[in-house]
Amino acid sequence: MKEDGQNKISFPDLSTKSESRSLSIVAIGGGKGGIGKSLLTANLGICFAKNRLKVVLIDADLGGSNLHTCLGVDLPEISLSDFVARRVENIEETIVETGQNGLGLISGAQDFLGSANIKYTQKLRVLKQIRKINADLILMDLGSGTSFNVLDFFLTSDLGIVMMVPEPTSLENSYRFIRSAFYRLLRHQEKSIPFRKIIEQAMETRNESGIRTPFDLIRVVSKMDPEKGDKYRASMLAFRPLLVTNQVRSEEDAELGVAVRMACRKYLGIDLDYLGYIGYDDAVWKAVRNRAALLQHAPDSASTESIWNIAREVARRLKQKPESALRNIL
Ligand SMILES: Nc1ncnc2c1ncn2[C@@H]1O[C@H](COP(=O)(O)OP(=O)(O)O)[C@@H](O)[C@H]1O
Ligand SMILES: [Mg+2]
Repeated sequence: MKEDGQNKISFPDLSTKSESRSLSIVAIGGGKGGIGKSLLTANLGICFAKNRLKVVLIDADLGGSNLHTCLGVDLPEISLSDFVARRVENIEETIVETGQNGLGLISGAQDFLGSANIKYTQKLRVLKQIRKINADLILMDLGSGTSFNVLDFFLTSDLGIVMMVPEPTSLENSYRFIRSAFYRLLRHQEKSIPFRKIIEQAMETRNESGIRTPFDLIRVVSKMDPEKGDKYRASMLAFRPLLVTNQVRSEEDAELGVAVRMACRKYLGIDLDYLGYIGYDDAVWKAVRNRAALLQHAPDSASTESIWNIAREVARRLKQKPESALRNIL
């Protein structure tokens, strides 16, 4: 049998063993559940592990965790909640093996009533320890919605992927997610309390100040303090989430990524970096039903091919050593 995908692509060297590199973190988010975040996280992890990187996947979907299912492994006994609840002191103690060389997993918190609402200090402790994990690459599978926890995990990553499926609800969720993430980023970067208040107002969808988009916000802020307005504009230009569309069934669906990118630029002022799409593929749910990862269950399927392409695009961007804008803030 052909070795599944082993030599399909070779990535640039992203190992932290090469002296100039440190750990990279990629987050996979998107406003909605059931759109393939865990599918992509699990299988991207396999792509990178096959390229001899030491990878740790984190199921940060505190409440709807199912990353282990996409890997075809049983629910581990130890999870992120053991670290959050301080049953273990070191986050590395929660890493379990996946049966795949070089690929570890930190499973999601199951007792979600407590952990879905983790407190700010707990969250900082998690984020700080993630940076210290001994690995080349961390992939974080995020929860749905736009809660501050989800947004902060997204923003502290070095690259953030937004996933979307071709449905109006998912589209709306994606715009909301991207806009909320940008406001949250500004809120973290802003030290002045009056300006923080303005950003918080903007975050409320039907706010009284009439701020509907980042453009409106920048206009309001520039009037009060032109220099600050310029700073906000620079943050907007630097903010480049990656976009992936999933469950594409037609030519029209396939073009959606480009359309969303254009709409985001026009209406939000945010320039997405479109990575590509994954087609709707029966191999995906068949793999889940067979309790196996897609890449192993169907190494030659079209969806597997697409995921390898996306992995290559991600690797190319990681090569440039992107860094979270919140690196020295959170
Ligand atoms: N490209 C695809 N083709 C067919 N089914 C898919 C595809 N992507 C996802 N699915 C289906 O959607 C389900 C949810 O995907 P999942 O990755 O668990 O979503 P999320 O993590 O965003 O909640 C999968 O179990 C699978 O059945
Ligand atoms: Mg999931």
